[in-house]
Amino acid sequence: MTRTSPRSDTQGAVTARYDRIARFYDLIDRPMDVLGGVASRRRRLLARAHGAVLEVGVGTGRNLDVYPPDTVVTGIDVSAKMLARARQRADHLGGPFRFEQAAVQQLPFADATFDTVVATCVFCSVADPVAGLREAARVVRPGGQVLLLEHVRPRTRLLGWLFDAINPVVRRLVGPNINRRTEDNIVRAGLDVVEIRRWGIWREIVVRH
Ligand SMILES: C[S@@+](CC[C@H](N)C(=O)[O-])C[C@H]1O[C@@H](n2cnc3c(N)ncnc32)[C@H](O)[C@@H]1O
Repeated sequence: MTRTSPRSDTQGAVTARYDRIARFYDLIDRPMDVLGGVASRRRRLLARAHGAVLEVGVGTGRNLDVYPPDTVVTGIDVSAKMLARARQRADHLGGPFRFEQAAVQQLPFADATFDTVVATCVFCSVADPVAGLREAARVVRPGGQVLLLEHVRPRTRLLGWLFDAINPVVRRLVGPNINRRTEDNIVRAGLDVVEIRRWGIWREIVVRH
């Protein structure tokens, strides 16, 4: 089970948190991308994306310049302020991007709409991650894929305990939960993991539909 305080992890609270930090997000996240090697993980995972792509929790659009050229990307996010930054980035890049404000737990798309669904560093924040994962899988076409890049609660007992202890402070300051058991949540959502790459707290996961 994920240890989070229900009061501070409602979807409204999550949205407010990201609206609040939107203008600092890239600055806060950049060291992890560059020094923590997350940028190269994004590139490796997203090289698999093809066709009609839905990126859930698109944030400020950090992945927009990573997608292969044969993709048409729709990005959704709960935070209007994060989305505003993604739109600015898309205007600058000039690719075929479309954005909508929506929650991954209730996607405004028909079943089997997309070839690929992408989420990077998102299910650490979604208020009900299992519902979100099920909904992400619903909108993927048969034969399609869900690509996930997520950090998870450390598996060692001491580090796990430490991450649980500092999670409320980290969540308040920078947004995500650092103690989500996303691999367990994927199993609980009934998704079919075909590939998983583990490195420290990072997971690159490919789910086939
Ligand atoms: C840590 S940021 C990651 C942003 C981006 N994916 C990246 O890799 O930089 C988490 C994002 O998920 C969004 N988010 C949180 N809960 C969500 C939900 N239920 N549905 C859609 N987006 C959500 C937040 O607003 C935020 O933009």
